[in-house]
Amino acid sequence: MSRDGFGSKLGIIAAAAGSAVGLGNIYRFPCELGNNGGGAFLLVYLLIVLCLGVPVMLSEFVIGRRTQQNPIGAFKTLKPKSAWPLFGYLGVACAFIIMAFYSTVAGWTLEYIVKAVGNEFHGKDLETIEKEFVAFHDIGWKNVFWQAVFIFLTAFVVFKGVAEGIEKYSKILMPLLVLILIVLAIRSLTLPNAMEGVTFLFHPDFSKITGSVLISALGQAFFSLSMGMGVLITYGSYIKKNDNLATTALSVTLSDTLVAVLAGIVIFPAAFSFGIRPTAGMGLVFNTLPMIFNQMTGGYVFCIIFFVLLAVAALTSTISLLEVVVAYLVEELRMSRRWATVLAALGCMAVGVFASLSLKSDSALRIAGMSFFDSLDFFSAKILLPVGAFFIVLFVGWVMGKNAFFKEITNEGTLKLSLKGVIFFIIKFVAPLAIALIFITGFL
Ligand code: PFF
Repeated sequence: MSRDGFGSKLGIIAAAAGSAVGLGNIYRFPCELGNNGGGAFLLVYLLIVLCLGVPVMLSEFVIGRRTQQNPIGAFKTLKPKSAWPLFGYLGVACAFIIMAFYSTVAGWTLEYIVKAVGNEFHGKDLETIEKEFVAFHDIGWKNVFWQAVFIFLTAFVVFKGVAEGIEKYSKILMPLLVLILIVLAIRSLTLPNAMEGVTFLFHPDFSKITGSVLISALGQAFFSLSMGMGVLITYGSYIKKNDNLATTALSVTLSDTLVAVLAGIVIFPAAFSFGIRPTAGMGLVFNTLPMIFNQMTGGYVFCIIFFVLLAVAALTSTISLLEVVVAYLVEELRMSRRWATVLAALGCMAVGVFASLSLKSDSALRIAGMSFFDSLDFFSAKILLPVGAFFIVLFVGWVMGKNAFFKEITNEGTLKLSLKGVIFFIIKFVAPLAIALIFITGFL
């Protein structure tokens, strides 16, 4: 079967960055940072991204490009008649789970576009904006409606195919998102008391680093970089044979991290200025931002553009999630792309409904003291992704081996890569050990 390829070098970076940059950076990153001690979390997060992010991403790209397969097919090709393809299935399951709750928040971005166009935040104080956010969750059907619209949009783009679908949208709009974040950061930093937020974000209090902070940072890093579940194996399989995998992984990691840090600089100074607690979770983003727009010249227009771009960022991420499930159904179960897309979308919706409804204040949809939404988030980011990433690096380091790895990252010896030995050492020893240690301390 012929596979689509990305049209250009920028195409694959844009598509992988499109998958990486999303609600994870702008919504989930500030939530996790706020709940895990601010600066200390940022420091651990940056260390993890730098030391583990690039090697794990590279490992996924290598598996994908070497085999030209989806994650399950890739493991089957590289290690036939073994248990390894199970991790491919784990990735498909994880994509499915993430899609189910991610689409809830993605749906909110659509509701907020409508609110922004209707100028509904104008002149409102924080209390009213907060009340309306809670009230919105309580209208369960509205959340479900927007979630369904978002999943439909995703399915539409996925059905159109990889190269045209993904590449076209992310190339222009992601840089625009960075630009608007910079403008918002400037506004946020010039609000009264902004420095308190800056201190919270950049001043690490080392006493706050606990096992739970470590596992949260690890989970957030993997979630944000779309790693540990095979999305990047699938993307790797679309990368051309003469592209440089290492620089691609580095560019994607750096752009993703830049957006997350920028989002932090937008949110925290403003949150402290308005008196929003850093532990406010979802409200941290969805209440702080409208308040910033209210204090800005041209706030009306900026608000609309921002939520449109946020929706697009979320879309390029949900596309990659659904693509994993669809690629599996098409390539392993021999389904037509059309039916695979329909089935995957309906499946995500079926589980996603419960994620959305579980956020109603009187909802009984709870598991182990957490809302169903939060348990899907916890289970995927803090358990499945670290486990997946652990086995991916183990596979590349110990099963695939040095020769195959070197061949693939140097494009069969045509590229010079002086750090390849160090990278392989990290993949073989440092990364599995670090992931295992963090995982164990996180749950002790
Ligand atoms: N990385 C995306 C974000 O930060 O919003 C979320 C995501 C997409 C996670 C795809 C995992 C994934 F496979």
